[in-house]
Amino acid sequence: MKNSKIQGILDKAKEAIESADSVETFNSIKSFFLSRKSELMSMMSTLGTLEPEERKEFGQELNQAKEEISKSIDEKIEELSKKELAEKLAKEQIDISLPSSNFTSGGKNPFHVIKDEIVDIFLGMGFDVADGPEVESDEYNFKLLNIPDDHPARDMQDTFYISDNVLLRTHTSPVQAHVMQQAEGKPIRIICPGKTYRRDDDDATHSHQFAQIEGLVIDKNINIGHLKATLELFVKQMFGEKREIRLRPSYFPFTEPSVEVDITCANCDGKGCSMCKGTGYIEILGGGMVHPNVLKMNGYDPEVYSGFAFGVGIERVAILRYGIDDIRRFYQNDVRFLHQYRKKA
Ligand code: PHE
Repeated sequence: MKNSKIQGILDKAKEAIESADSVETFNSIKSFFLSRKSELMSMMSTLGTLEPEERKEFGQELNQAKEEISKSIDEKIEELSKKELAEKLAKEQIDISLPSSNFTSGGKNPFHVIKDEIVDIFLGMGFDVADGPEVESDEYNFKLLNIPDDHPARDMQDTFYISDNVLLRTHTSPVQAHVMQQAEGKPIRIICPGKTYRRDDDDATHSHQFAQIEGLVIDKNINIGHLKATLELFVKQMFGEKREIRLRPSYFPFTEPSVEVDITCANCDGKGCSMCKGTGYIEILGGGMVHPNVLKMNGYDPEVYSGFAFGVGIERVAILRYGIDDIRRFYQNDVRFLHQYRKKA
């Protein structure tokens, strides 16, 4: 600097910057040397009184000094905050190898444990999973399943009506009609897990809301042996190799013939006890060969195609597998109950 006064200010500022070690000090140095009332800035205001030649050089030097001071302060502040951050990070290192303190974690409701197991068993047999609406039309819940308006079978499946023709589905069977219509005559092998509703008074064995898994297979040359073999495989995987099944004649409007499927009682191995009311068997599901009318109404020629269907209550399977005494337990969310089914990690 040619101007010794400016040089003097610059030197003083540098000295102050060198010895400062906090952001606050830097800020006050900045305001001391560069604020409007500072020496440097009041020298700026005298520029107008100087000769043009002199003014240029003096002005340049003033600006240069101002820039130098503000630049070195900014650099120092940045350096300081980097250092502070590094120190903070070093101090706050977390030891992730430390064992954590105990915490409670949730687990699957036994309903879902069983539902997932059933689905896995059928996926293993090559079934796909289909889905369908819980709010159904009368058409799909009844008519397309061979249950016309005045059919007495409707009485067994009373439900919640949204309007005359719209209701909460009473079973997962309407999915049969949906899937057949979508498949447009091609072979089908699906299961469909889902919620179902009936107008029932809730007690230990009845619930106005429950869940089923529907199964449907349609192809050429499907016979009741396929149904029996499929269900036998399911029962043995779900309840153990020792379990046997028995098919009893039954009635559903949408299957012909229809069967009720029983499994040997786990409690007495089929000998007869109080659990199976002396019969040696416990009922688990309904099924049968898809009725020709149902095939026809949903786009399949019963002369060419045949199929089987079944519907199994998910809670029913869980109750039998775990020996649960009341269907309402699945929905009450009592943690003492739920806790028993938590899979060990
Ligand atoms: N939908 C029947 C029920 O809920 C069960 C079933 C499904 C029967 C498929 C036959 C075929 O009782």
